[in-house]
Amino acid sequence: MSLRLRLNLLVAGLNLGFLAALTWLMVDNHRSAIQEEIEAAHRVTIQMLGTAAQTSRVFGSAPAVMFDYLKSLGRVRANEIRLYSDDGVLRYESPPSTYKAGRRAPDGFEALMRPKLATTVIGLPGARIQIVPDASRAILDAWDSVTAIFLLGLGFVAVLHVALLLFLRHLLRPTEADALRLVATTRQLAENREVIRLIQTGVEEERKRLARELHDELGQSVTAIRLIAASIARGNGSGGAVPGSAKIDEIAASLYDSVHRIVRELRPAVLEQPDLAAALADLGREWRVRHPEIELDLKLEGDLGDLGEAMTLAVFRCVQEALTNALKHAQASRVELAVRRRDGRLEASIEDNGRGVAADGPPGSGHGLVGMRERVVALGGRLEAAAGAEGGFRVSMSLPLPGDSE
Ligand SMILES: Nc1ncnc2c1ncn2[C@@H]1O[C@H](COP(=O)(O)OP(=O)(O)OP(=O)(O)O)[C@@H](O)[C@H]1O
Ligand SMILES: [Mg+2]
Repeated sequence: MSLRLRLNLLVAGLNLGFLAALTWLMVDNHRSAIQEEIEAAHRVTIQMLGTAAQTSRVFGSAPAVMFDYLKSLGRVRANEIRLYSDDGVLRYESPPSTYKAGRRAPDGFEALMRPKLATTVIGLPGARIQIVPDASRAILDAWDSVTAIFLLGLGFVAVLHVALLLFLRHLLRPTEADALRLVATTRQLAENREVIRLIQTGVEEERKRLARELHDELGQSVTAIRLIAASIARGNGSGGAVPGSAKIDEIAASLYDSVHRIVRELRPAVLEQPDLAAALADLGREWRVRHPEIELDLKLEGDLGDLGEAMTLAVFRCVQEALTNALKHAQASRVELAVRRRDGRLEASIEDNGRGVAADGPPGSGHGLVGMRERVVALGGRLEAAAGAEGGFRVSMSLPLPGDSE
């Protein structure tokens, strides 16, 4: 969720909370006021009609006297008055209120506000007066006042909300200086990446040149030595085999193998045809032959054949260095290499079950990890090197694949 949206929700929540509290306070105040008012009006009406009832008894025909009295009295505030004869016939009913005639508060609001007062009945000889408390006008007044203040409050908090957000937007808007700094930093980063990329390309070119020299010069010289040694061993020269010539041939053969291995490391097949899956499979095969005591588990997922030369080479070199590190430092019996292409990224990890590193990470003396990180960062990725999940050491990297949508 964006910062702006979070601020919006926070401000709206606070405003609505404030409005709800204000409304509830008003409703509660009105309810107590209505209870008090209707109770008082009802009590006064009872007293008044009680006195009138006693007087009417004195004057004989109470219902008739009372009828005339009530008619002349008209409506009493917040009470409905009815006169019934003993046989239940309604003789008189006070007129409805003309105040805000034809309107009522909503049922729910009325139910919430209605005071708890019972109907009062005053008995007369031959008749009875029923006094029903009627809070509907007071409740309507309360409804009008609560809705007016609620709407006013709503308008106020809406204006406050907008003003506050405009202010925050102004406050959080990046200044021109910020924008310029950001542009400069981005440019600097891009330049750094480009420099690293050029250095890596230069290093690879130099390796290629060295591989060529080694192969063409040393390789051919060693081959020549082997041929001569073999010839001497067969006794083709001055007649009779020269002692030690077979040994020279053997040493030259081993030197030849070493030169070839170094040439392969300096200029792996991946440089000729950038297929990461094939290159890693080759690397795995060679590793298993040369280090049968360390189990290598290779897991390749997704299409790794068209990653482009830069990425293929970077990942290959990183894997090469991580495997060399596992050999040099880990004393591991197992190494797991996993490379997969997923969600627009290339992810690779090399994890061993060796002695691992101290809790504060690997010591920073060598160049291997630094070089790996530089290669990965130059391609916009990230690299982590730390203790593995079950001890040992783990190097993991994640690189964005250009053109692959995440
Ligand atoms: N698999 C591993 N197990 C244990 N420690 C490791 C492992 N890989 C790296 N380290 C530690 O991290 C350090 C840094 O590794 P790095 O590859 O940067 O340097 P190096 O291998 O010592 O030297 P260089 O790679 O320059 O020849 C190593 O010296 C070692 O202490
Ligand atoms: Mg190293």
